[in-house]
Amino acid sequence: MALSFYYSMPSFKCFIVSYILVLIFSFSNVEARQKELSTDFYYYSCPQVLDIVRDGVVEAIKNETRNGASLLRLHFHDCFVNGCDGSVLLDDNTTFTGEKTAFPNNNSLRAFDVVDVIKARLEKVCPLVVSCADLLAIAARDSVFHLGGPTWEVKLGRRDSLTANITAANIFIPSPSSNITVLKSNFASVGLSFKDLVSLSGAHTIGYARCTTFRPRIYNDGNISPSFKDSLRSKCPQVGSDDVLQGLDLKTPSHFDNLYYKNLLTKKGLLHSDQEIYNSNKADPIVRKFSRDLSKFYRDFAKGMIKMGDISPLLDNQGEIRQNCRVAR
Ligand code: HEM
Ligand SMILES: *[C@@H]1O[C@H](CO)[C@@H](O)[C@H](O)[C@H]1NC(C)=O
Ligand SMILES: *[C@@H]1O[C@H](CO)[C@@H](O)[C@H](O)[C@H]1NC(C)=O
Ligand SMILES: *[C@@H]1O[C@H](CO)[C@@H](O)[C@H](O)[C@H]1NC(C)=O
Ligand SMILES: *[C@@H]1O[C@H](CO)[C@@H](O)[C@H](O)[C@H]1NC(C)=O
Ligand SMILES: *[C@@H]1O[C@H](CO)[C@@H](O)[C@H](O)[C@H]1NC(C)=O
Repeated sequence: MALSFYYSMPSFKCFIVSYILVLIFSFSNVEARQKELSTDFYYYSCPQVLDIVRDGVVEAIKNETRNGASLLRLHFHDCFVNGCDGSVLLDDNTTFTGEKTAFPNNNSLRAFDVVDVIKARLEKVCPLVVSCADLLAIAARDSVFHLGGPTWEVKLGRRDSLTANITAANIFIPSPSSNITVLKSNFASVGLSFKDLVSLSGAHTIGYARCTTFRPRIYNDGNISPSFKDSLRSKCPQVGSDDVLQGLDLKTPSHFDNLYYKNLLTKKGLLHSDQEIYNSNKADPIVRKFSRDLSKFYRDFAKGMIKMGDISPLLDNQGEIRQNCRVAR
């Protein structure tokens, strides 16, 4: 062995030279422009990122189960407004109005404190490396998984916005009073299909809604189960109790299952927009399929989440990496 090592000394030198060439080549590759998101984006710069976010999400769900749903919704409300760029996380101040007080967000979005805790842990280990937009994408994935749902490989490399747009938040985040035509066009305007609308609405298998968001459904809609309507009316009167909470999935709001779709079949969708998914004949077969086939729903939900996470990311030298998710440079 030793002999053959000495004999191959020239080729060993040659090996070193080519090794250095490879190093230079891959270094120049690192310098190349980032063209898209990738699952291994933080492989060298912050190998601990996935563990840190997962541990934070598990802890947040232990603190309060609903945090999982709230984190998932943050990613959705981030992505639908100028792409997944952390814009939803920016705080208002005297000279700046962010998206937090937009109609769909005001007194509604939550778990911002959880984002702060996780971001502070990331800053300790890999300062100014992991974007808030990526933090939300990972936290959404981990929340779904730790509430019993599917998982997927999350693409990373998004950068954070320098600004936010409350007007765009009011326009692009879908409303619970919308009909199927409007919902479909909301999704189409960010490049998501009809099927994505049906599968991603399955997120409403977890979490809660306030009385004020489903009141029109229980007083004005015809297309609702009578017994369901009566029980909701007693919790959510025509006047007052605006903030009373009801599980979006009436039976298991802490478990990521397919009961959401079974509820739709019996006209027990909580929001008007939920039941709309099972009004249009075109969506009916997809809803029925998801209600019967849990793994089909899981696969399509994961696909939809990856597509949603791909909406208009800031890449390369666009935007910034925020130190504090609430403040832009
Ligand atoms: C299809 C159009 C959608 C509409 C109209 C809609 C509307 C709503 C409304 C009104 C609430 C209750 C908010 C409140 O009472 O404060 C809610 C909650 C929620 N939404 Fe949606 N949503 C839609 C799609 C989605 C999507 C695509 C996701 C994620 C992929 C999502 C995830 C959630 C979650 C997890 C909650 C519960 C949050 C919590 O408990 O903190 N929604 N949604
Ligand atoms: C947001 O909610 C607060 C507290 O309920 C309210 O005072 C404020 O007017 C709302 N802002 C907007 C823009 O609707
Ligand atoms: C969980 O709750 C504890 C006690 O309030 C808090 O210190 C911690 O930051 C919370 N964890 C997360 C991830 O939000
Ligand atoms: C905010 O969004 C609205 C609606 O998309 C758009 O018309 C407006 O130009 C945007 N404002 C800025 C400052 O980009
Ligand atoms: C859906 O809602 C939009 C906006 O409110 C309305 O213009 C349209 O006529 C509605 N479509 C149907 C099929 O009801
Ligand atoms: C207000 O918020 C914006 C956006 O985060 C930030 O760029 C700006 O520095 C803040 N201004 C003050 C006075 O804190």
